[in-house]
Amino acid sequence: MPLVKLIIYQLRNISEATLTFNPKINMIVGANGSGKTSILEAIYFLGLGRSFRSHLTSRVISYDHKAFTLYAEIHNGNLTIPIGLQKSQNGETQLKINGAHATKLAILTQYLPVQLITPESYTLLTGSPKNRRAFLDWGVFYHDQLFYNNWARIKRLLKQRNAALKQCKTYNELQVWDNELCLLSDEISAQRQAYFDRLIPLINTTVADFLPDVSITSHFFCGWDKKNKSLQEYLTDNFYRDKQLGYTSSGPQKADVRFKINGIPVSDVLSRGHLKLFVYALRLAQGLFLNSFNNKQCVFLIDDFSSELDQSKQQLLAKHILNSDAQVFITVIEKNSIETLFGQERTVFHVEHGKITVE
Ligand SMILES: Nc1ncnc2c1ncn2[C@@H]1O[C@H](COP(=O)(O)OP(=O)(O)OP(=O)(O)O)[C@@H](O)[C@H]1O
Ligand SMILES: [Mg+2]
Repeated sequence: MPLVKLIIYQLRNISEATLTFNPKINMIVGANGSGKTSILEAIYFLGLGRSFRSHLTSRVISYDHKAFTLYAEIHNGNLTIPIGLQKSQNGETQLKINGAHATKLAILTQYLPVQLITPESYTLLTGSPKNRRAFLDWGVFYHDQLFYNNWARIKRLLKQRNAALKQCKTYNELQVWDNELCLLSDEISAQRQAYFDRLIPLINTTVADFLPDVSITSHFFCGWDKKNKSLQEYLTDNFYRDKQLGYTSSGPQKADVRFKINGIPVSDVLSRGHLKLFVYALRLAQGLFLNSFNNKQCVFLIDDFSSELDQSKQQLLAKHILNSDAQVFITVIEKNSIETLFGQERTVFHVEHGKITVE
């Protein structure tokens, strides 16, 4: 499902651009501050309905404008799906897919599964479990159609439970929430575990090529120690502590995926460049999974391709990216540094002060 066409209006320093993309490799070349990452930001908006750089949409809209607008065409088999998205300063969103108004931005994910790699991507491994849950859930969401409803339901339930937790005096008052919470938690954990179990062999194959000298083990933590106690027991036993904290401290909202070398977290062992390669391996594995089991094509957005990787690793990475058959958008400051890595089936865009030209 490649993105074949994109029209951008008033996004960051891009006032207007009409871009026809290559179904395989797209290189976006330009000096610092020219607008390269802003193109990726526009594509990310089409995939996930939000930015990866700013929580505030108003920051993304060009200065002195009221809204940014994106028109896109996505190929799906023989079909071309038009998508229009407008985000305004006043918080309004207009979304049109195939000519019909859509109310939920989450629906966008069905059309353009986007995987992003930036120079900060190593924080997936060094940062909080929240990012790793998002990584895992991205894959489960595509793999298991029932997951999204469970996930949305449990988010609402936890909100209600946490509000009740602050008000109530005894645990019994919470039991009404916890019966459903425990059932849903088991379901979500099983869905996450099933996906992760199937993803691990794909991760291992790529890692064996990227980091042949290390042996990394992968482990899914469901959010409570199952071997020790059931979630129901944790919820009952932690009642006074959770009440003090003001939130529920055990459950699927605390899930994590952990990667270790000789029992030590990878973040404490690997160099920055190697951490980044490992993140590439994780995201490539998700792309391969989507392709092999769900028959969908992932779109990779790679910001600042060359950063922190030596020439041989860049070559290896380019080989894997080409093999994945996915559509790729790569930003780079100097084209020469990567030109030879990606073969001839590519389109090069030059960006200068928000103006984009094709080579
Ligand atoms: N809301 C906005 N309106 C107009 N211009 C903006 C806005 N927000 C940021 N900019 C400008 O847009 C430009 C594009 O930034 P972008 O991050 O896309 O550049 P880049 O080519 O990726 O640079 P680098 O190589 O340094 O990463 C910057 O010069 C920035 O100052
Ligand atoms: Mg940039």
